[in-house]
Amino acid sequence: MADEKTKLLIIDDDPKVSWILREGLKSEYDIMTASDGIEGIQIASKEKPPLILLDIKMPGMNGLEVLKKLKKAGLPSDVIMLSGQGETETVVEAVQLGAFYFINKPFDVREVDLQLQKALERRGLIMKIDVMEQALVAKTAWDGFIGDSGRMIEIKNLIEQVADSELSVLIRGESGTGKEIVARMLHQLSSRRSHPFIKVNCAAIPRELLEAELFGYEKGAFTGAHKNKPGRFETANKGTIFLDEIGDMSFELQAKLLQVLEQQEFVRVGGIVSIKVDVRIICATNRDLEQAIYDRQFRDDLFYRLNEITVSLPSLRDRLEDVPLLVDHFLRKYGEVYHREHAHVSAACMAAMSEYNWPGNVRQLENLIKQLVVRQDEAVVFESIRNSPDAPTAERPARLARAGQGYTAPPSSAQSAVAVGDDKNFSLKDRLSRTIESEEKKLIAEVLRKTNWNRRKAAQILEISYRSLLYKIKEYRLNEVE
Ligand SMILES: Nc1ncnc2c1ncn2[C@@H]1O[C@H](COP(=O)(O)OP(=O)(O)OP(=O)(O)O)[C@@H](O)[C@H]1O
Ligand SMILES: [Mg+2]
Repeated sequence: MADEKTKLLIIDDDPKVSWILREGLKSEYDIMTASDGIEGIQIASKEKPPLILLDIKMPGMNGLEVLKKLKKAGLPSDVIMLSGQGETETVVEAVQLGAFYFINKPFDVREVDLQLQKALERRGLIMKIDVMEQALVAKTAWDGFIGDSGRMIEIKNLIEQVADSELSVLIRGESGTGKEIVARMLHQLSSRRSHPFIKVNCAAIPRELLEAELFGYEKGAFTGAHKNKPGRFETANKGTIFLDEIGDMSFELQAKLLQVLEQQEFVRVGGIVSIKVDVRIICATNRDLEQAIYDRQFRDDLFYRLNEITVSLPSLRDRLEDVPLLVDHFLRKYGEVYHREHAHVSAACMAAMSEYNWPGNVRQLENLIKQLVVRQDEAVVFESIRNSPDAPTAERPARLARAGQGYTAPPSSAQSAVAVGDDKNFSLKDRLSRTIESEEKKLIAEVLRKTNWNRRKAAQILEISYRSLLYKIKEYRLNEVE
């Protein structure tokens, strides 16, 4: 089968000119002709030819106006203008408007062909650059998503397969396993990447305000609605909306969300006009949605609509083989941030981390490495592991105990496994990191007291997930009687 020929549209009111061009070029191109501007625009919009030959002087709409309209419509064609004598100024304007080139009449068909070939060559180059750019974007995105274990490779493959589709993805996993990173990757690897990625944390926004936040509101819709406000769905148009903690959305709002997803349109709160948007939807949750459906807290019809693809992230304890990679990644990351480029960990410390059960998953590991880099002392790791309220798992009690109890503080920083160098003047950062922790502890304790230890409410006020709160309560050893 012969290669498909490139589409070429000729727009000229003079049938003789069109005929000459057609005869001279038909062996190379798939030719369409239009005898005036309006017909030309119609054909161009429908057929999207990569190449257009456009006469400047035509009755009705002239070539310049046609060119303006084609560019405004965002049509991807390269346009070569055909100009008569004495039209120099018009030609300059045409080139400024984005014409690829111009050819004076009378012309030699071979010259026309040469210019068409040049335009095609340039298109090829631009496409190549696009492909290279995309590959670069993908590579940079993957660079921040660490994991070589079997489970993670499966997940990377799945992300690659579904990223550029319209399928709705539900990301599941414990707190700190990387659900948000996955959502961002899905957006980055899709053709929506140059449009917005909008995150909405359904658990952090008070239930009664979430609808207005998502769908916007009209002036006067409720007390405090002083002006019209577009919602996140409108802001996300052409991009991706990431509904985090979807399990915390109220049952009533779930119904509206489902309706919006089915009809692809909605009205603002207090509004009457339907708004249409083109938004890809990604959700995440660490709640057991099947249980929530059973308990009639989550709609099963919405669940099926949101869950066309599930990405289930493993907890870190289920992929401990990735710990060294993650440690290296975070050492490099925070080494750069805090100018400790040579930070590293000892084999004993790495072993301890590779056997720990990480209740706070990658987030906990990341925080620990950050502290280690700032404080330049492996004791932070050993202490944190030893003091963890989470009992060691059945398979590794002895080793874990060894990791913690066998550790004694290094006699001097020179022997510390984290490179310290000669500069010991780090007291400010050290103090700062301790202060932040103690402030965090105080704040959490205060919010828990104020909410009467309603953990879900406290997590909402603190804008952290429920699980992170539980984890921090354990980490800081907060308890209700105090
Ligand atoms: N595979 C990974 N590679 C590199 N960093 C990761 C990875 N997974 C998670 N992280 C880091 O761990 C932290 C927590 O990740 P993220 O916010 O995506 O978790 P989450 O599952 O959304 O947690 P939560 O349920 O608490 O919101 C982030 O700082 C993220 O950069
Ligand atoms: Mg998250």
